[in-house]
Amino acid sequence: MKVVLSVLLLVAEIVAFPAWSGATPLMDWGLHVAKEGNGKPGSTACMECHRLDGGGMPSIGSPRIAGQPSQYIAREIREVKAGKRYGPVMAGVVQNLSLRDIRAVALYYSRAKSPKLPDVGPSDPTLVGEGKHIATRGFWKKNIPACVQCHGPNGYGVPPLFPYIAGQNRTYLLRQLMAYAFLKRQDDPDGLMRGIARRMTMTQRKAVAEYFSSLKPPIRDVP
Ligand code: HEC
Ligand code: HEC
Repeated sequence: MKVVLSVLLLVAEIVAFPAWSGATPLMDWGLHVAKEGNGKPGSTACMECHRLDGGGMPSIGSPRIAGQPSQYIAREIREVKAGKRYGPVMAGVVQNLSLRDIRAVALYYSRAKSPKLPDVGPSDPTLVGEGKHIATRGFWKKNIPACVQCHGPNGYGVPPLFPYIAGQNRTYLLRQLMAYAFLKRQDDPDGLMRGIARRMTMTQRKAVAEYFSSLKPPIRDVP
């Protein structure tokens, strides 16, 4: 009887505190914040704009964040909160998040999986072609390197520093390129993106946005 009882207790303990996943309480809290907010006044559930699966909302230019590295997600939120990153919508949402909330929700979304959501309207094949050229070969006449040099083959990102941009919605991509070019988004390391975006013409920015939004996003299993 005693043996059975201790086996049962052990099973209960493993179920309650799985040793193989110390991150579980943080994941659970991240899910809670994504779904309902953190309960503090003014808190907004992330899913209202990013969906629970992190696919974003192309119609309002809200980015997909599913599978972005957790360090990147956490950094962007901290920077918006500190007023260092451009985020006109996010600025009103993140002020009451604690550092733990941020870590938790970043962990949650870094492991979320979402299919690509359709963009608004059809894409323009000529722009996609031009975008592909710049993305894979650069435009050296104006000192623009190939995007894939930093964002990885297919724009899948190179964690933890370089976010993926493949499969991101085109409204968000173009807004970010404009924000870098006109120096609204200013916290990119060494001004890497500001310099590149400024040297591009408006058509080139549209072209790379069309190209990367036409690709499939990475959907990876994060251990
Ligand atoms: C009211 C809509 C809205 C809500 C709610 C919202 N977001 Fe956002 N989020 C946006 C928009 C729009 C952007 C693009 C930047 C901007 O315009 O502020 C963004 C940008 C981001 C980014 C930057 C993505 C990138 O690729 O750089 C992250 C990360 C993010 N949001 C996470 C969250 C999390 C986590 C929550 C919940 C705590 C949340 N957002 C709640 C609309 C929202
Ligand atoms: C030298 C390295 C480098 C190259 C080349 C580069 N990027 Fe970036 N890019 C970065 C880094 C680093 C970030 C993250 C910066 C930040 O936190 O603001 C970034 C961020 C971005 C973002 C914002 C992503 C998001 O989720 O908010 C977009 C869009 C982008 N890059 C597009 C491009 C395009 C298009 C090209 C090619 C024309 C390009 N990048 C070339 C380094 C690079």
